[in-house]
Amino acid sequence: MNDVPTPKPWISGIHAYVPGKAAGDDGRVVAKLSANENPLGCSPLAMAAIAKAEHPSRYPDGDSTALRAALGTFYGIAPAQIIMGAGSGELLYLAASGYAGPGDEVLFSQYSFSLYDIVARRCGAEPVEAPAKDYGSDVDALLAAVTKRTRVLLLANPNNPTGTYLPRSEVARLHAGLPQDVLLVLDQAYAEYVAPEDDDGSLELAATQPNVLVTRTFSKAYGLAGERVGWGTGSIAVIEVLSRLRGAFNVSNTAQAIALAALGDQAFVEQSRRHNAEVRARFAQAITALGNHGLRMVPSEANFVLVVFEGALSGEAAYQALTSAGYMTRWLPGQGLGHTLRITIGTAEQMDAIAAILRGAAEAAK
Ligand SMILES: Cc1ncc(COP(=O)(O)O)c(C=O)c1O
Repeated sequence: MNDVPTPKPWISGIHAYVPGKAAGDDGRVVAKLSANENPLGCSPLAMAAIAKAEHPSRYPDGDSTALRAALGTFYGIAPAQIIMGAGSGELLYLAASGYAGPGDEVLFSQYSFSLYDIVARRCGAEPVEAPAKDYGSDVDALLAAVTKRTRVLLLANPNNPTGTYLPRSEVARLHAGLPQDVLLVLDQAYAEYVAPEDDDGSLELAATQPNVLVTRTFSKAYGLAGERVGWGTGSIAVIEVLSRLRGAFNVSNTAQAIALAALGDQAFVEQSRRHNAEVRARFAQAITALGNHGLRMVPSEANFVLVVFEGALSGEAAYQALTSAGYMTRWLPGQGLGHTLRITIGTAEQMDAIAAILRGAAEAAK
């Protein structure tokens, strides 16, 4: 008998997620700027909370009660409208599998988060990409791509890997133009890096609209990527669907304790936001100064930037120059972005070094 378990036909279309590389082939690494991690680490209060977490021999609180209550108090959201995930990535999977399946479409923008394709395919749905405009999500193109089969629309705002950002008016226009039976997932993994006055109104939509889910994470501005804590908010009906699907104990004891303490240290989050904004602006100036070599930066609201190479220095050559100097960045030819590099905003010193390496490489390529 040659019978073996047969995976579902749509599984073969999935290319497993490729995370940002931590080191070059020779193992050398000066700075890992390939995964949008926080260069300031995390709050010292969060580190101190590890020791106070529930003992590892005990199962965690499956409902993450204290953490949901604290998030609810902080954002003015009823805890029943909050779900915790093992990272916000888990919640994206749950949203797609709760509302889409074989024969359905999951829609997202060209040049958006590479996980979206996997999210769509994992539940057997068809991934559909709407063309981007200037590397950013285009509301008109997204609305034009909606069909009767569209069940879920995933929008990252700010967008990864381009850093682009749709203002509140555009997010509202997107929601208003969507059929009400399409779930709009507003993925706000980088929301804390956006200046408060530029808030895109996602949380308000999630609080008032039955077809909106907002996802957020402790991985970025809170600096807890290794702990795997994300959260989502939407109507009670949507949260109930996701709750049925999630792992029973999806957030560990330590992760709950550390995230709770991190949420209590908003000074750290603000420090991270300011640091990022300052260093990003300084790096933008350095890239603008290389405009005569064909380099430019896509405007970013996130903790990373997309540098576009349109001169003699190619994206691949720039990637190699940085990698051989120990600076790990993200080159994404598979996403049609081979002429660009995504670079996480690190410390000022790291970004100055990167700008200097790019200048040297651009001058040598002339
Ligand atoms: C746009 C976007 N959404 C979601 C995530 C998932 O992050 P996590 O699962 O760590 O919360 C990421 C991570 O890079 C991201 O860039």
